[in-house]
Amino acid sequence: MLDQLLTKAENSGNLGLEEIEQLLNLENQSDIDRLLACAYRVKTRYVGRTAWFRGIIEFSNICAKDCYYCGIRRSNSKMQRFTIPEKDIVESAVWAWKADYGSVVLQSGERSDPEYINMVERLLKEIKKRTNGELGITLSLGEQSEETYRRWFDTGAHRYLLRIETSNKELYAKLHPRDHSFENRVDCLHRLRKVGYQVGTGVMIGLPMQTARHLAEDLMFFKSLDIDMIGMGPYIYHSDTPLASYRAEWEIPHKTLLNLGLKMIALARILMRDINIAATTALQALEHDGREQGLLAGANVIMPNATDTQYRENYQLYENKPCTDENATMCRGCLQRRIEGIGEQIGFGKWGDSPHFASRTNKAIV
Ligand code: 5AD
Ligand code: FES
Repeated sequence: MLDQLLTKAENSGNLGLEEIEQLLNLENQSDIDRLLACAYRVKTRYVGRTAWFRGIIEFSNICAKDCYYCGIRRSNSKMQRFTIPEKDIVESAVWAWKADYGSVVLQSGERSDPEYINMVERLLKEIKKRTNGELGITLSLGEQSEETYRRWFDTGAHRYLLRIETSNKELYAKLHPRDHSFENRVDCLHRLRKVGYQVGTGVMIGLPMQTARHLAEDLMFFKSLDIDMIGMGPYIYHSDTPLASYRAEWEIPHKTLLNLGLKMIALARILMRDINIAATTALQALEHDGREQGLLAGANVIMPNATDTQYRENYQLYENKPCTDENATMCRGCLQRRIEGIGEQIGFGKWGDSPHFASRTNKAIV
């Protein structure tokens, strides 16, 4: 029965909603391992066994949003706020370029005031200049107007990550205050695509009130948007957030949650074959080798932290975030060893664009 389903999945890449749900509900470890192995074969066939490195620079935790799950939400007054000085952000990006990372991800809390928009533009210009235009830049800076997306794109950013968080409108409404709009977030994904970015999205996995059906629908949502990249990971409680009150009723044991995250990665790979999928840091908050397990379940991107150590402690979106005491050099060496340890190659020195983007736009991969 499972064999038949997995063979069909591997050969066709097509599964119905109920079949996806059934696979997400697998409980027996050897069954789960068969699903993950199937996804790894698909990965090997479509994107190879290279893990692309993107240095992530989390440059500010100032945020205008108030999402109920997130440690850096506006109302968390316990969080000490910071924005890294511009010259230091640029230095981190230059470090990443010199460390042979093909690209960086610039991430921050969400702001849309003119000073911020101009600052990001200056950063993009300066980073491009200092790295001879070689370093690829992905942005993860939340919901913005089409004009802002266009300005940043024209200044040199070429990929954008904006997680939908959950594709279920009702669940979205339970996780966010009333002035946070699900529709606007979906519109943003369309805007980004229209402007010309490679577009990535994702969800949190294991949220309170979330069901396997919701997660199956999330995968269908990614597919229907024809997205180029996915970054998704387990939801992890943060005590200083409203959602922490659901802990007693909804908290999922680490092993089960990790498995659920891995099943989601595997199914995304099976359904969407040639996209880029990140093995996100939150996987490693559950088990020390969570990110390697993500690669073995079908992910092909990894984001070593390239943020200056002094700021890491205040970018705790969730509790127990790994790498807060390490520096960028340590994370590079650590992940290199880990990846080589599972027999994969590291994609150094290239942008490592999503082959899916190349095929849908007829552009060469950089
Ligand atoms: N657990 C896991 N992921 C979280 N994020 C925010 N809060 C949490 C949490 N408690 C994720 C969101 C956001 C990304 C930057 O971090 O999905 O898009
Ligand atoms: Fe940062 Fe291992 S990746 S310490």
